[in-house]
Amino acid sequence: MQKSKIDVILGIQWGDEGKGKIVDVLASRYDIIARFQGGPNAGHTIKFGGSTHVLHTIPSGIFHEGKVNVIGNGVLVDARIFCQETAELRLAGIEPRQRMKISDKAHLILPTHRLLDAALEARKGAKKIGSTVKGIGPAYTDKTARCGLRMGDIFSPNFNGKYNGLKAEHVLQLKQYGFNLEAATIDGMPWKQYEEKWLEGIEELRGFEVVSTEFYLDRAMREGKRILAEGAQGTLLDVDFGSYPFVTSSSTTTSGVCVGLGVPPSAIGKVYGIFKAYCTRVGSGPFPTELHNETGELLRQKGHEFGATTGRARRTGWLDLPALRYTLMINGVTDLVMMKSDVMDGFESICVAESYRLDGKPVEGYPDTESAERVEPVYASMPGWKTPISSARSYDSLPQEFKAYVEYIVRNTGLDIKMISVGPDREETIVNA
Ligand code: GDP
Ligand code: IMO
Ligand code: MG
Repeated sequence: MQKSKIDVILGIQWGDEGKGKIVDVLASRYDIIARFQGGPNAGHTIKFGGSTHVLHTIPSGIFHEGKVNVIGNGVLVDARIFCQETAELRLAGIEPRQRMKISDKAHLILPTHRLLDAALEARKGAKKIGSTVKGIGPAYTDKTARCGLRMGDIFSPNFNGKYNGLKAEHVLQLKQYGFNLEAATIDGMPWKQYEEKWLEGIEELRGFEVVSTEFYLDRAMREGKRILAEGAQGTLLDVDFGSYPFVTSSSTTTSGVCVGLGVPPSAIGKVYGIFKAYCTRVGSGPFPTELHNETGELLRQKGHEFGATTGRARRTGWLDLPALRYTLMINGVTDLVMMKSDVMDGFESICVAESYRLDGKPVEGYPDTESAERVEPVYASMPGWKTPISSARSYDSLPQEFKAYVEYIVRNTGLDIKMISVGPDREETIVNA
């Protein structure tokens, strides 16, 4: 039998594009759904049957019976947050142990990683990244510094010794920063109490199947199993290609799938690039098409643009083609998926940035972070659609102006839009448009 390929779903803007929804929609076509990077900085929202679920660490295929969800080696796991997610799933009648495997090489986020994240952000002052403060930066730092703790370590007879050793290093660093450990809290509780819950979470994690998922995935591919890799964050937050330093600490791109799951580049099949019909960003950093007016506020209110992880208001703006062309190139996107078009229902007109100018000259390629703060987008404007689109289930039934918007994006990216999401619910989706 021919080895199967891994299809990829990833965000091609600044995160929160709607990856969770689309992974859930597509999960029925796959046998395995695997997260390859990021950690609980992610918030992936899924709506069906009148209920809403937000996942942070657990892959978005978890609601489908008979599917295997994999937390890959590239993912970071916070035992406490993981435990909260599993408790919520059980309340929804799902036993995650039967549907999930975790890589023995996935790194752990310690409570003190979260304190370090907070301390480092505070030291940055006005230059802060706007991190979700989930410990992502410090935990990936320890991974590359070769002193992190991994899932495999939780089964070591000396786990407590290893944990206390790394914690002591962190405490030392925190003291050097003059951080007030006595008064420190995490998620609204004294950090020592958080630590207790975190250690309970480690016990919960021990009940899961922790294996070398790279071998599991290789065998699955040889057996012809269909695999979907689920990205977190978005390409413009990638540690290399995002607006550094206002980025996350992982590779959010297609290449990240290979290192984050232990699969070869030749295993990559389709790459679904997910984008909103407009743009949002949460946290600091350049956002060329950002709107600081009532249209921006309208997008925020109608799109409920408040973070699924932190509740922070998301910055909003028009669709940005130079940024999209860049992220399509980096990822080798084969199929586009457009989200949240319904949010612009009733808009008189819609703008799209076609190019940038800097100091009066056209910008080639994609600008560096400092230039991206100063570029002036050159906009095209087109008429909006007046009929609400959320009840549409076929491309043909969509308003003419909306189809013109879709066709404009297809022309300007050279890629087909394979799915259009017209509302947050699983059902509110037009497939193979
Ligand atoms: P993710 O991080 O990429 O999975 O996206 P988030 O879950 O953080 O944010 C997407 C938000 O938009 C969630 O609240 C979704 O329920 C919602 N959503 C997804 N698709 C649509 C859509 O087509 N229309 C509307 N109005 N909301 C959507
Ligand atoms: P999902 O998977 C949107 C942003 C933060 C901050 C920067 C660094 O839901 O799309 P970090 O916590 O990683 O140190 O934060 O990245 N960020 C996200 N923005 N969606 C996300 O995930 C994000 N994860 C991190 O706001 O600007
Ligand atoms: Mg999100």
